[in-house]
Amino acid sequence: MKYSNILLLGGSGFVGRHLAAELAQRGYRVTLPCRRPHRLQALKVLANINILQANILQPDELGKLCQGHDAVINLVGILNESKKLSFRRMHVEFVQSVVQACQKTGIKRLLHISALGADQATGSSQYLRSKGEGENLIHTFGQNKLHVTSFQPSVIFGEDDSFIRRFGQILKLCDATYTFYFPLACPNSRFSPVYVGDVVRAIANRVDDPGSFSKRYPLCGPETWTLQQIVEMIAKAQGNRCKVIGLPDSLSRLQAMLLQNLPGKLFTLDNYRSLQTPSTCPQGVTHCPTSFSGYLGGLASMHSNRTQYDEYRKNLNL
Ligand SMILES: NC(=O)c1ccc[n+]([C@@H]2O[C@H](COP(=O)([O-])OP(=O)(O)OC[C@H]3O[C@@H](n4cnc5c(N)ncnc54)[C@H](OP(=O)(O)O)[C@@H]3O)[C@@H](O)[C@H]2O)c1
Repeated sequence: MKYSNILLLGGSGFVGRHLAAELAQRGYRVTLPCRRPHRLQALKVLANINILQANILQPDELGKLCQGHDAVINLVGILNESKKLSFRRMHVEFVQSVVQACQKTGIKRLLHISALGADQATGSSQYLRSKGEGENLIHTFGQNKLHVTSFQPSVIFGEDDSFIRRFGQILKLCDATYTFYFPLACPNSRFSPVYVGDVVRAIANRVDDPGSFSKRYPLCGPETWTLQQIVEMIAKAQGNRCKVIGLPDSLSRLQAMLLQNLPGKLFTLDNYRSLQTPSTCPQGVTHCPTSFSGYLGGLASMHSNRTQYDEYRKNLNL
């Protein structure tokens, strides 16, 4: 069976924008409802993508959106709770309403993105437990007429990611303010960062694949690094002078307690708890090919070309 018309929920996010483009290039027709369509100008050039404004959290609206589609991909997720939206609301109740909308409108195919380490019972944070509960929920309903597949990525990197950008900005600020040390919480947390291009190919490859029904796919890159190694590589790629100092566990926790009360929620206690679970794949899983260190090496050479170019212009007094 070919699922040609796809409703992409969470398509305005980092992974969603890449996935929408990948699916459109493969010939799928993609409907992408979102809150702020004007932010997706780059996708509007692709003929197969229909971007529209909608409130997907309203079950009635979601039901209407599902009509005329034969598959749904759900990428909606939050990293931090707010006063208005809890992990439970976004990762469990919303998923439930997606499943119900699929059932009401006769959609037979649902793909869903969870997270590595997500576990309803034993997840180390609210984020991971709620992600695990949502994932279990779709697989439970999936036994009944809905063909479901879920993906559990480690941290995802690539053009426009928030992971490299967030640490990159802190390191730049550190240099700009002559703060020579960056105190890093949970420096020994382990990740196998996975490239966004590999993630969207893994999802797109499975849309029409009956062999993927009822399966859960962990997604990891080929390398495993500690958080400290990752941040040091980002600093090197950007040419920062700031030194990364790993904090012991007690100070990591204290940093989370302090920062979670500041605007922007740079780091919360729940983030701290998520970092207690290694974001690495179990043995036997085939790793995605793109290497994080190779990608950062590319960024580093772009940075050094830019620095040389700026230097050249300075010498010319341009
Ligand atoms: N990025 C990673 O490293 C990573 C790792 C593991 C798992 N994941 C999971 O992968 C999925 C996609 O991640 P991502 O990095 O692409 O996240 P993202 O950039 O934050 O995108 C999240 C998407 O959810 C939507 N969303 C959030 N709150 C919403 C709300 N209240 N109403 C309507 N839509 C809302 C966002 O819409 P707006 O654009 O309107 O905000 C966006 O489309 C998430 O489920 C995430 O948990 C990501």
